[in-house]
Amino acid sequence: MNSTHMRMRTTNWSAPIVWTDTYNESALKKYYKKHPVAVGLVVFAVGRYLEYYLESFLLSANMFFMVNQRVIIYVMLDDFSRMPFISLNRLRTYKIFKVKQERRWQDISMMRMKTISEHIADHIRHEVDYVFCMDVDQIFKGSYGLETLGESVAQLHTYWYKESPNKVPYERNEASEAYIPLGQGDFYYHAAVFGGTTAQVLKITQECARRIMNDKKNNIEAVWHDESHLNKYFFLHKPTKILSPEFCWDLRKDTTPDIETVKLSWNFKHYEFLRKEV
Ligand SMILES: *[C@@H]1O[C@H](CO)[C@@H](O)[C@H](O)[C@H]1NC(C)=O
Ligand SMILES: *[C@@H]1O[C@H](CO)[C@@H](O)[C@H](O)[C@H]1NC(C)=O
Repeated sequence: MNSTHMRMRTTNWSAPIVWTDTYNESALKKYYKKHPVAVGLVVFAVGRYLEYYLESFLLSANMFFMVNQRVIIYVMLDDFSRMPFISLNRLRTYKIFKVKQERRWQDISMMRMKTISEHIADHIRHEVDYVFCMDVDQIFKGSYGLETLGESVAQLHTYWYKESPNKVPYERNEASEAYIPLGQGDFYYHAAVFGGTTAQVLKITQECARRIMNDKKNNIEAVWHDESHLNKYFFLHKPTKILSPEFCWDLRKDTTPDIETVKLSWNFKHYEFLRKEV
């Protein structure tokens, strides 16, 4: 275990790492009251992910995500008829879009980057100031708010945040666009949560989509698919803010004293059903 990562508060390129006790919520509220922002939340729910997870994701987001801010939840799904009916609180709306079902879950997760970039370029950048992209198989557990906003925001991975970069599962095939040489890298980021200003998230998703397509042309699939490419992106372009694992925790993991408040948790993974090819 690398104890330097225990509640580290800044990176060596001076980006803050946000933990429950590193920010002043009332100061943030005061600031954003004078400088109001709109925040987008993009979530994909296709195939069985729609059936298992979308409702609890949306119900909990309605309760905890950017409370009292203007929020647009962009739901990308493959079947309009199965959109759960949930009425949202004040200042929040949905926009629902249909996406194509891919045969393999790896392709769903990789195509996500391309689809998000197209939607940001097309309309999201005119509708909100910041945008988060999140996996649907998660549940908000506590206030997830203004403290998470930044130019480009990356999420520390529950299972790897204490490890040195040499031990994390970066792509090690030199032929892949996601390749990170041994001995380099900063953190292992979880693709279940990333965000930033619409301009930055456009760059992130365009760049990842381009790299994924190049790999595909060469018949290469990075070890953790879009996550490997996201890690490469943040290796080359350091995030300006990093979220501690409190912002995306796996509750089945043993409790550790550095995790005080869980704000978003993994939902149960029904891989045996979810990852069956259709
Ligand atoms: C948090 O911010 C508020 C409002 O700006 C301020 O009054 C308060 O003293 C701050 N609290 C701490 C612990 O710094
Ligand atoms: C920051 O740390 C990483 C490894 O953790 C290292 O590769 C990099 O050179 C460091 N950068 C600076 C500016 O010290």
